[in-house]
Amino acid sequence: MRAIGVERTGGLDALQQVTVPVPEPGPDELRIGVAFAAANWSDIQKRQGIYPDPVGYPVILGAEVSGIVSAIGPGVRGLAIGQRVAALCGPRLLGGYADAVVVPAAYVLRLPGDLPLDQAAALPLATLTAFHLLHTAYRIRAGQVVMVHAIAGSVGLAVTQVAGMAGARVIGTVGRPGKSGLPRRMGAELVIDRSSEDFVERALAFTDGRGVDLIIDSLGGEILPRSFDALRFHGHLINIGEAAGEPDFPVRKKLYERSTSMAGFEVLHAAPGSRTWRRGVRFVEDAVARGRLRMPVGAIFPFEDVAAMHAALEGRGTSGKLLLAVGGGSPA
Ligand SMILES: NC(=O)c1ccc[n+]([C@@H]2O[C@H](COP(=O)([O-])OP(=O)(O)OC[C@H]3O[C@@H](n4cnc5c(N)ncnc54)[C@H](OP(=O)(O)O)[C@@H]3O)[C@@H](O)[C@H]2O)c1
Repeated sequence: MRAIGVERTGGLDALQQVTVPVPEPGPDELRIGVAFAAANWSDIQKRQGIYPDPVGYPVILGAEVSGIVSAIGPGVRGLAIGQRVAALCGPRLLGGYADAVVVPAAYVLRLPGDLPLDQAAALPLATLTAFHLLHTAYRIRAGQVVMVHAIAGSVGLAVTQVAGMAGARVIGTVGRPGKSGLPRRMGAELVIDRSSEDFVERALAFTDGRGVDLIIDSLGGEILPRSFDALRFHGHLINIGEAAGEPDFPVRKKLYERSTSMAGFEVLHAAPGSRTWRRGVRFVEDAVARGRLRMPVGAIFPFEDVAAMHAALEGRGTSGKLLLAVGGGSPA
């Protein structure tokens, strides 16, 4: 079968089409014939070799897919060959840019019959991340104000919707002009363009000087330390990534200025298969089926154009999810 592999980390030319054997599912696993694979920022970091967790190369990239179940291993219940599903590519969020991928059954989302497979591929990672950020790592409450950096990206859009469903108010930042439309349509009350506006001033003005309750930061760099100035006293910041680079700042001093707190977050620490994990899967499946949670698709690229997909995401002008059309499934 075809797959997009990275043997030596680097630029776009590190993305190589390779031929590999079709994988066979083991116990509690199933194989999906991939219709669409979604692009994630972490795919770029894995291609570049800067993903913080160790990744043994060569790898096949791809953290999430949609498609049709094509084989089932022993012990899998409630899923059938021919069923349309979306899934995280377990156990290490790799392998999805391929004609087929094997995933643990715990990583699968069951889809409503009318959801096109392109929209389905955009769902798993961002929506499960948003759920566990707001309901496992934090206890979001109605009326709280959440600020999300990179709000036009998939995680930002998912946090906007999941926080809105809990009755929280959402504001966010983007790094380029022209990226506010989607987050506003998803319920964000304010989208701040960091390239021309001071996000701390705007966030304080939005909250009448009080500061926001929670910040979700995926950027790090100089944006992370500055973000504490936009928190209320005893506010909380959760860092989930470092797209703008490793932050270098006196954390203790910053935390003491407003008695704030900070946490790290990794979605797989919600332990796929556990009760906590299943709560997230049920929440997403139910919200998608009721039409309350969706992930807009920004663009779909042919399998051969995987480098163009990475270039578009890296260029930071996109909003919504970028997808790779792999094969099979319903048309986009
Ligand atoms: N810890 C976890 O469990 C977990 C799970 C899923 C995702 N994540 C992280 O969440 C983030 C969002 O993921 P995504 O796939 O949805 O990506 P995304 O938000 O679509 O893309 C990343 C965004 O980061 C911003 N950015 C990139 N480079 C930057 C730089 N040098 N300086 C400032 N901003 C920069 C850009 O948005 P703006 O310029 O508009 O800000 C870019 O669009 C990523 O950092 C990812 O690694 C973490």
